[in-house]
Amino acid sequence: MTFDPAALRAQFPILARRVRGQPLHYLDSAATAQVPLAVLDAVRTHDAMHRANVHRGVHALAEEATQAYEAARGAVAGWLNVAPDEVIFTSGATAAINLVAQSWTRSLSPGDEILLTELEHHSNIVPWQLAAERQGLVLRALPATAEGRIDLAALPAMVGARTKLIAATHVSNVTGAVTDVAALVAAARSCGAKLLLDGSQRAPHGPLDIPALGADFYVFTGHKLYGPNGIGALWARREILAAMPPFLGGGEMIRRVTIERSTYADPPRRFEAGTPPIAQAIGLGAAIGFLSTLDWSAVAAHEMSLTQRLLDGLAADRRIRIFGPAGLQSRIGVVSFDMEGAHPHDICQILDARGVACRGGHHCAQPLMDRFDLAGTTRASIGIYNDASDIDALLDGLDEVARRLCA
Ligand code: ALA
Repeated sequence: MTFDPAALRAQFPILARRVRGQPLHYLDSAATAQVPLAVLDAVRTHDAMHRANVHRGVHALAEEATQAYEAARGAVAGWLNVAPDEVIFTSGATAAINLVAQSWTRSLSPGDEILLTELEHHSNIVPWQLAAERQGLVLRALPATAEGRIDLAALPAMVGARTKLIAATHVSNVTGAVTDVAALVAAARSCGAKLLLDGSQRAPHGPLDIPALGADFYVFTGHKLYGPNGIGALWARREILAAMPPFLGGGEMIRRVTIERSTYADPPRRFEAGTPPIAQAIGLGAAIGFLSTLDWSAVAAHEMSLTQRLLDGLAADRRIRIFGPAGLQSRIGVVSFDMEGAHPHDICQILDARGVACRGGHHCAQPLMDRFDLAGTTRASIGIYNDASDIDALLDGLDEVARRLCA
């Protein structure tokens, strides 16, 4: 286990390039993280030397591809500390949530309730709306606190006999707040509901112990975990998956097909219809292999020290308002802010001209923007490869924004 920030940066070729004539300061890892050489090599080697379909052929390449694909499932299982046969590959977190929303909800009845939160990404809202429309379900949402956390004080009044699922983010993609999962687990258990966690923003910040966490479903996406896009995963407990009907029909998810009807394979294959994203899964496995060599307590300390540097720099400017926890307690390095007199898109454009990549807008979280009465925020998000020069470049850029737009 090691963590040498300079050596680690060298593993990410894109960080050596210049943009707009400036060194790149990439502070948008919450949108998409960059990929290390290990991932680029794994994808290229698969396509160059082992490319074949999986679970079908008996020829050597098919066996190699199948073995690598299943090894990638094992890597995902290791990252989550779960059994490989409980891991389903999907095209991303969105597809994973849609799978649950379209399949697991089939056993629910009109009037049954799904409890969301105001902090959710649209991908953990819209799939439930579609399911609710189809089955007459009722959606409710826990409010957000002024600090940008889930308001757990509202839980007792929001759960009851009709609550069948709580679907919440593990970490907010806007405020960086880490959810108190134990409180959600207790609330879910009190009424016999299941708990789904969207781990897209949490998974890139270290290995997980899902059984200890107590969730029933967990989803994440590969492209935020330093892997390729087009790949993600759903985990659910074996007995839950076994009871779920298929979502997509097609090749490889069946036992027997006649023209009249079909019977289905056991999970995980029941939920992986068609040719899966093989190279992408192998790339994700390589990303996890790479991440597994890191000393995660050192990475966390590094990310938190950069987050503190950023929070301090932002707090020093009275025009800036931070949306999210002001301190480091139960938060990650995703920091959203508003600058009086400057639109997030204008801020991001000025930063971009200085080689600083941030995201400005509603971050696919319009209900949370409504809660804060904002059209959008500027967001900086810190990854394993960032260093103090990235934070300082952002803060210098905000000085220029203030001079040009807020005079
Ligand atoms: N979910 C991604 C983000 O928060 C796209 O930016």
